[in-house]
Amino acid sequence: MSRAIDQSGQGAVAGAAAAAAAELRCVDASCGAHYALDERVVVCARCGGLLEVELGPPPAAAAASLPELWARRRTSDLPADASGVWRFREMLPIGAQQPLVTLREGNTPLYEAPRAAIYCGLDELWLKHQGANPTGSFKDTGMTAAVTHAVRLGSRALACASTGNTAASLAAYAARAGVRAVILVPRGQVSSAKLGQSMDYGAAVLELEGNFDAAMRVVRELAEDGSLYLVNSLNPMRVEGQKTVSFETMEQRGWRVPDHVVVPGGNLGNISALGKGFIELRRWGLIDRLPRFTVVQAEGAAPFAHLLAERARNPAATIEPIAEPRTLATAIRIGAPVSWQRGLRVLAETNGMALTVTEQEIADAKAMIGRDGIGCEPASATTVAGIRRLVADGRIRKSESVVAVLTGHLLKDTDYTAKYHTGQLKEPEGAPGSGHGPGESRPISGAFANPPARVPATRDGILEYLKRSSSESRSR
Ligand code: F0G
Repeated sequence: MSRAIDQSGQGAVAGAAAAAAAELRCVDASCGAHYALDERVVVCARCGGLLEVELGPPPAAAAASLPELWARRRTSDLPADASGVWRFREMLPIGAQQPLVTLREGNTPLYEAPRAAIYCGLDELWLKHQGANPTGSFKDTGMTAAVTHAVRLGSRALACASTGNTAASLAAYAARAGVRAVILVPRGQVSSAKLGQSMDYGAAVLELEGNFDAAMRVVRELAEDGSLYLVNSLNPMRVEGQKTVSFETMEQRGWRVPDHVVVPGGNLGNISALGKGFIELRRWGLIDRLPRFTVVQAEGAAPFAHLLAERARNPAATIEPIAEPRTLATAIRIGAPVSWQRGLRVLAETNGMALTVTEQEIADAKAMIGRDGIGCEPASATTVAGIRRLVADGRIRKSESVVAVLTGHLLKDTDYTAKYHTGQLKEPEGAPGSGHGPGESRPISGAFANPPARVPATRDGILEYLKRSSSESRSR
């Protein structure tokens, strides 16, 4: 019988000790509460604050052998090895001795993107495509950990509020585990592809009047008595799974730390997780410096970018929620991000940045990512739009190494894409700087639009069209 490759590895033994000593700690240092991992808490029972996993002390010399062990597991077919999350289990708080709820998530590509690099003004740009996960978004790497943990705790019903991707991911992993998924989504504000996924995976899909932030408030209330287990990214186990993206990116770069890592910002789980991953790698002696992290938000849904600007004036400033966030990138239409304190800490530790980009910039950047044959959903394209700005204003140098995280697959929102290419995309009503009131919205111009052509159903007609369009594109 085959065995998981790690069983006898020196690194695995050392890592197991760190995992066994892991506990949950309140991120608010003035509270300082801590909990055993098997306690059924998602947020701090004392102060209501966020919790995070603290691994035990890093193993001494053995950590150096981990990269080789992790890479070797890729040749194994066992679920715990074949998952791009669980093959890094020495740095996770959950061992692989018991059943894992996995869909072979992770192991996503890190693509070089030459056209997008030129667009940004960089020598090189690398795109870590989390849209290549089983349900098409980065959520799966966290969800495998949260659902595995929930099942071990004995939960039979799992819940989340979502702009669509968390919902699809929870629905899939709950289906694998044979437990109930209850998802709360803002009605009319989720792409039909994402909603369709959740329906196919058999979740209870509840459409709420109100936006994502309202859904988040309600689901937290519902989870309070413990009858529903909450798996939004405030759940510390989600963060644990998602942090492996940092490990995998480093592995794919031959353990050379990039100068910059750029992520979109919504609820700020991603920045929290990737930052934690890099910070732990440094603590374990696997890297010797940290990349600078940047969070990019759509300008109509940018409470975190505003907070960062405000803190330059007032270091004690806290998040100012936006009552009606607006962006066509529906995945990040969020006005009250729950993980802002964690996000802030990552930026503080990595000398990080936050900025906003316009709807037009997001749309054009998305089309450019497409031109490299990669593609992504609108929220992911904030990264390339943001990098372009940062290069233009000198905050990223042309020769620096930059990794952008693409969070969702192109097919998550085909409506947006088709509208861009056919000149029908319009800014949300009342978007910042649009100068338009309710009921009016400014069109987005398709600078890189590539609309389908209508041609006669004849050989000559098609050849004629191709001749004409290739001479047109040469003369452009
Ligand atoms: N990109 C995509 C495609 C997303 O779906 C999300 C969040 C983000 C970026 C932002 O990530 O919240 O970790 O800062 N989507 C959540 C959802 C809110 O419900 O699917 P974050």
